[in-house]
Amino acid sequence: MTNTTDITNHIILVTGAASGIGKQIAAQLAAQGAEVIAADLNLEALEALKSEVNKANFHIKKVDFNNDQSIISLVSEVENQIGPIKGLINCVGILGKSGMLSEDIDLVNFDLVYQINLRAALVLSMQVLKAMKPRGYGRILQLASISGKEGNPGLVAYSVTKAGLIALVKAQGKEYAPFGITINALAPALIDTPMTASFEPEQRQYLESKIPMNRLGTVEEVASLAAWIISPACSFTTGFAFDLTGGRATY
Ligand SMILES: NC(=O)c1ccc[n+]([C@@H]2O[C@H](COP(=O)([O-])OP(=O)(O)OC[C@H]3O[C@@H](n4cnc5c(N)ncnc54)[C@H](O)[C@@H]3O)[C@@H](O)[C@H]2O)c1
Repeated sequence: MTNTTDITNHIILVTGAASGIGKQIAAQLAAQGAEVIAADLNLEALEALKSEVNKANFHIKKVDFNNDQSIISLVSEVENQIGPIKGLINCVGILGKSGMLSEDIDLVNFDLVYQINLRAALVLSMQVLKAMKPRGYGRILQLASISGKEGNPGLVAYSVTKAGLIALVKAQGKEYAPFGITINALAPALIDTPMTASFEPEQRQYLESKIPMNRLGTVEEVASLAAWIISPACSFTTGFAFDLTGGRATY
């Protein structure tokens, strides 16, 4: 077993890579020498990112998390055209409608948040696990949230689906522990990204006030932890939700 953070030439699929956290992670992993596939629904933004990164080890793919077949095709295309996936970092996530009490939840919107944040994450992991298992190595990281650990008011759909992601990695982590595959989640508090900018001002203030460090996290802080979790060095931790909350969660 090599206890190294070196990910040179590792094929790593990063979803949600057109914006915010996923974008930073994809660019950083490519700078570290990984063979990165940046996937997202927003192809235009991916193309702009590809020109910005400007490296032969940076590939882009369109995927729609609202369509199972699109996710299945993404994984098979990466495996067939680029090579065996060693790491998956799933950063796709939507907030959905927020700010209302539970009695006023729009159930159609709840179903959409569930589809994108949880069901699609499961479908994606199923395809990737099938490919990784016979090879005896793999790293999977799901972007969850502090909302999934503590619940945030006015964010029921988001909180529920992020809690689901944490349970998903706990169950899958145990299932795939004997196969050399680690499966973890990252649970950040507020990180400065376009998603955060879409919060209602009072909601944002409330969430920010709960962070003992009195600031938002940065995408760079998320990317450095993610780069370690996705490396061979993260070899004895699985089914865990890593904290990144400036002290909000101490567990
Ligand atoms: N920003 C935060 O404060 C914060 C905190 C905790 C957790 N997270 C989680 O981190 C992840 C990334 O968040 P972010 O702030 O970078 O968000 P973001 O909105 O900046 O990026 C999300 C990306 O997902 C893509 N996407 C949305 N719907 C899609 C679909 N149907 N198919 C494919 N791609 C789709 C978007 O195009 C976008 O590029 C999310 O899962 C989010 O829930 C964010």
